[in-house]
Amino acid sequence: MDGEAKPRYVRTMPTPDPLPPVTAFPRPEIFAALGAEGIRNLLRRVYVELGQSSIASLFPSEPEALQAAADKSSLFFVGICGGPPLYEKKYGPPRMRLRHQPFAITDEARLVWLGCWEEVLKTAPETEGFPREHLDTFREYLTTFSRWMVNKEG
Ligand code: HEM
Repeated sequence: MDGEAKPRYVRTMPTPDPLPPVTAFPRPEIFAALGAEGIRNLLRRVYVELGQSSIASLFPSEPEALQAAADKSSLFFVGICGGPPLYEKKYGPPRMRLRHQPFAITDEARLVWLGCWEEVLKTAPETEGFPREHLDTFREYLTTFSRWMVNKEG
């Protein structure tokens, strides 16, 4: 009798990537109010914030390249905010976690990213005509879905 039972096997398989967190898509009224151009302007402002933030090194440093990255992202946001699937048409399946994999994203970086969004969202009703009554559900989407992009401890 040697007391404690030994585990019958040790798991050596890598754990699979987590599934996307469950969250509602942003309200379609957002695309109805902003259109593709308004959403593009919103993303350009977010990327300007990101480019000046403590996680700027994750993003292109050249202004034109930064804007191109914002415009690419904006196509995805058009789709999830109730507009046509422009991102999928141009780039194929979104696979967002996989597409973020080349970048080391910690939860701390995620919070900085959310902070950059917040800077823009607080004036978005005035600047882009973002429907004020749908700000909170949009924030909820960003907060929850962004957890899926975290791929590094720390
Ligand atoms: C709601 C959560 C998020 C959404 C919907 C989102 C969306 C996107 C999209 C659509 C792209 C373009 C992907 C492509 O190359 O085709 C992108 C790129 C990127 N995202 Fe996110 N993202 C999210 C969260 C984050 C977070 C939390 C970080 C970092 C803290 C991050 C950092 C990046 C970086 C570094 C790129 C590449 C930029 C480049 O083109 O050089 N993202 N994101």
